[in-house]
Amino acid sequence: MGPGALGRVFAAALARVARVALVARGEEGARRLRAGYALRGPDGAESFVYPEAFAGDDAPDARWAIVLVKGPDTEAAAHTAARLASAGVLSLQNGWVLERLRAAARGVMADQGATTAAAWRQGEDVVWEAAGHSWLPPGFAELAQMMTAAGLPAEVSADIDEARLQKLAVNLLLNPLTAVLRIKNGDVLREPAWRMVRELAREMTPVLRGRGLSLQEAEVLELTARVARATADNISSMLADVMAGRPTEIAEITGVLLSWGGEEGVRLPQHQALYHLVRALEQVDRGQPLQQ
Ligand SMILES: NC(=O)c1ccc[n+]([C@@H]2O[C@H](COP(=O)([O-])OP(=O)(O)OC[C@H]3O[C@@H](n4cnc5c(N)ncnc54)[C@H](OP(=O)(O)O)[C@@H]3O)[C@@H](O)[C@H]2O)c1
Repeated sequence: MGPGALGRVFAAALARVARVALVARGEEGARRLRAGYALRGPDGAESFVYPEAFAGDDAPDARWAIVLVKGPDTEAAAHTAARLASAGVLSLQNGWVLERLRAAARGVMADQGATTAAAWRQGEDVVWEAAGHSWLPPGFAELAQMMTAAGLPAEVSADIDEARLQKLAVNLLLNPLTAVLRIKNGDVLREPAWRMVRELAREMTPVLRGRGLSLQEAEVLELTARVARATADNISSMLADVMAGRPTEIAEITGVLLSWGGEEGVRLPQHQALYHLVRALEQVDRGQPLQQ
């Protein structure tokens, strides 16, 4: 579900080991996909992919569905995914969409994992930057095996909450700040950005630990620095979204943290400020007047 950067990569890779339907929003998108797209793999090799692509209404029944839409599109995609898939619906989206996913995918096992696979679009074509590693929730072992065989290393994690929370922690520290400051991931390691990262980490770590994160503040910073170094030349998906005038996943990332903080009576003023700044940037980059 979702023929964007990651969806195109997953469809192309999984087609080596299984029959795959790539599900677009509508027939027009599906028709464009059937015309094919170029894929540059992590090893630099180029291939041309002709997926079996469908609009949601016309898509065939499936054993598994993988949701790879952006956060705001979760409900619509999960609803269709649950109608098609008999074994389960897996989200590998960024941010925290678990409750929304399950509510929309009632009647079938639905859960959220985490992935460090990376890809970006160039028009219809896609650059598959890294195969990364994916952590899947219990119940998704068959899918993890298929992904691994397809070149997308995956494992079932008994402590999937930890994997999800660690991914969320890194996204909370890198995505909004890089979008607001318009800097590459590696630039957060320089002052004064790194000081802001430290303050954001101090503010949020107790809330994330209250949700089950095992890492201490210093370990959260260490993990974030590792990711920033490994992706130093990349721009974050949130920066890419604001620059392209697309909606961001700020609600699924910082918005979720703010609502968890609210439930526990914890104030998160710096995350709150970033949330409002990204919301404003979404409007500015779309050429819209600022609104509440
Ligand atoms: N790209 C990465 O490297 C990466 C890495 C880790 C995690 N992620 C996460 O994975 C998710 C997808 O990321 P992405 O970069 O692949 O996003 P993307 O390029 O924006 O692709 C999302 C795709 O979903 C389609 N879509 C939206 N609603 C749909 C629906 N109801 N049915 C079918 N298709 C629908 C969109 O169609 P339209 O074009 O018509 O809007 C678009 O093609 C995000 O949560 C992201 O944070 C991405």
